[in-house]
Amino acid sequence: MTAQDFILESYNSNIEKGKVKWSSPSNIALIKYWGKREHQIPENPSISFTLSNCKTITEVTYTKKANKDFSFDVYFEGEKNEAFKPKIQTFFERIESYMPFLRDYHFKIETSNTFPHSSGIASSASGMSALALCLMSLERSLSLTEMTNLYFNKKASFLARLGSGSACRSIEGELVVWGQNESTESSDLYGIKFDDDVHANFKNYQDTILLVDKGEKQVSSTVGHKLMFGHPFAKERFSQAHNNLAKLKTILALGDLDAFIKIVESEALTLHAMMMTSMPYFILMKPNTLSIINRIWQYRNETNSKVCFTLDAGANVHVLYPENEKDNILQFIKNDLATYCQNEHFITDYVGKGAQLIEI
Ligand code: PMV
Repeated sequence: MTAQDFILESYNSNIEKGKVKWSSPSNIALIKYWGKREHQIPENPSISFTLSNCKTITEVTYTKKANKDFSFDVYFEGEKNEAFKPKIQTFFERIESYMPFLRDYHFKIETSNTFPHSSGIASSASGMSALALCLMSLERSLSLTEMTNLYFNKKASFLARLGSGSACRSIEGELVVWGQNESTESSDLYGIKFDDDVHANFKNYQDTILLVDKGEKQVSSTVGHKLMFGHPFAKERFSQAHNNLAKLKTILALGDLDAFIKIVESEALTLHAMMMTSMPYFILMKPNTLSIINRIWQYRNETNSKVCFTLDAGANVHVLYPENEKDNILQFIKNDLATYCQNEHFITDYVGKGAQLIEI
């Protein structure tokens, strides 16, 4: 499909008002997206686990209005929020050619997260996907023809991508690929559910997020992606992501946990290596991030565990492990790794099936 296929040509203009509510999860990339071209096109393919517990719940109330300006109010956790408005304004501007009805309505956007505010967990993936889904439900109500679920999900992912790249991987679960590649069904424009064989070892995979640093990120992902332009190692990195995805596909089918660990940890460290070697350069890990990584490696050496880590563009650590190790690893986290977290704070999560419609 091309971007043109997502333009809504005509619609029912008799709907005066309505309300819709979605919950949409965060996701954690195994192969990382870092570097993008214009219009949020990724420089390399990525694949992520969709999460379950870390999600955004967004309710959009729409009311017909006469003027043709964008009009919306944002409420975050019950309070009117001005800080989110510029991002949503930019989002509306980016998607209006695909949703011509956006200027016909005033939108009241009420949103909240299940994870603590300023926990250092990026809410852009869950937040932008939840908003995109609400707007797609409105489009479905206005649509003059029947809309298939396949189209609904594709366009929701397409729109979410224009809000925040990785948000396009939050619509469905359990694994989603985004970015054209030779190994899987794929597109640069939207995420696609990874439908190839996945071994039982990866079912209900666990992700416990260790909150090492709850502060504002030192570098926004927008700035970070831009630093891949002219980066001395960019070309190699982008081709490495293609190779890693091809390898991961086989690993997922075989259930090879040792090979999984190697790819996933290497991807996390490569993401941070790219930041450390860009100009300007950044170190987003904290001393406790490194302590946790070392403790995970030590634990793995001492036991037969298949626990491993991955990182986002920040200091927090995602601890990934198979479901059958849940009790042991949670004990290890509580007794040991939690001491490296701010206020011993961590969030337990696991792989999920994607966004859910709560109310229409
Ligand atoms: O979606 P963005 O623009 O916030 O970028 C997110 C990039 C990483 O989280 C670091 C990696 C990824 O693939 O999710």
